Amino acid sequence: MNAQLLAPLPSPRFLLAPMEGMLDSRLREVLTSVAQYDWCVTEFVRVTDTLLPHRSYRRVAPELSFGARTAGGVPVRVQLLGSDPGCLAENAARLVDLAPAGIDLNFGCPAPVVNRHGGGAVLLDTPQVLFRIVAAVARAIGGRVPFTAKMRLGVRDKGRAIEAALALADGGAELLVVHGRTKEEAYRPPAHWEWIARIAQAVHVPVVANGEIWTVDDYLRCRAASERRDVMLGRGAVADPFLVERLRDRLAGREIRSWSADWPRVLPLIFAYWSCVRRDLEPRHTPGRLKQWLNLLRRNYPQAEVLFQQLKPLREASEIDRQLQARTEVHSRCVA
Ligand SMILES: Cc1cc2nc3c(=O)[nH]c(=O)nc-3n(C[C@H](O)[C@H](O)[C@H](O)COP(=O)(O)O)c2cc1C
Repeated sequence: MNAQLLAPLPSPRFLLAPMEGMLDSRLREVLTSVAQYDWCVTEFVRVTDTLLPHRSYRRVAPELSFGARTAGGVPVRVQLLGSDPGCLAENAARLVDLAPAGIDLNFGCPAPVVNRHGGGAVLLDTPQVLFRIVAAVARAIGGRVPFTAKMRLGVRDKGRAIEAALALADGGAELLVVHGRTKEEAYRPPAHWEWIARIAQAVHVPVVANGEIWTVDDYLRCRAASERRDVMLGRGAVADPFLVERLRDRLAGREIRSWSADWPRVLPLIFAYWSCVRRDLEPRHTPGRLKQWLNLLRRNYPQAEVLFQQLKPLREASEIDRQLQARTEVHSRCVA
């Protein structure tokens, strides 16, 4: 009997998605303190026509000063977004000096401001340009760090999805993350996971499925439709910091904890996030960041809805300090 046939399958990989304006280094720090992702990807760094200084990369990825790992030990890859092959290549070469855990290229961003300048998802209409970009960046990186690309299924329709994926893989991307929607489909459900399977059958590199995985059941349905075990989690991971734990429990045949039972584990994360945000950002920018996270958490946690409604009218960071301080005291009395 072939020994390889008997070998257990490796456990699936779970990646934490890049989310500009939401999943910054602070939320990454908090989420990866409780979930062992295989790696996470930063918000995109926009490359136009200049060679960016090191500080531009350190701003989105402060982890570059700490071995490109979060405090929880999860590797951090840096994402670049642009449309000029030469400029992206030069910037990628400079980024390699900072030893990120990998470099990812963004071919999924639907934002008009980015697309107007030829970057992000609009490039999916021109596979020959995709190929030139990826080939130039692969040459510049020269195998010194892992190199991946993230794509959608197209701009208006999915007609060139496979051609686009082939261009990325043939150009030198070592792994593709495929968000199962076109640019026009924005973030509207469903994600077309079956298209991810078609792409995976066509390319010679590993493919990771992404889009609309909020629960363990979603993961299992995505896995069946996309024929992928490895997934990247975005909003679902933000809405449930323990989603990866639930997935691993389910795959290991363990009982899955209920959301309501998990709130006492979520609350300290909210306190931790607030202190990171207060430490790093100007006070006027802080309330919005916390409310944004609570807005996703309340999908799963009824207690987050209560907290969200309480904090919603508050505009000043100091008012939120006071509310959370009172909560911290109650929480520590309860767990004592
Ligand atoms: C607020 C927000 C910001 C995002 N920023 C990025 C980004 O910087 N780079 C990127 O490749 N994708 C970005 N995405 C797309 C996500 O990485 C992911 O592909 C998408 O949300 C689908 O996955 P999900 O359903 O698990 O959230 C963003 C998505 C959202 C909602």
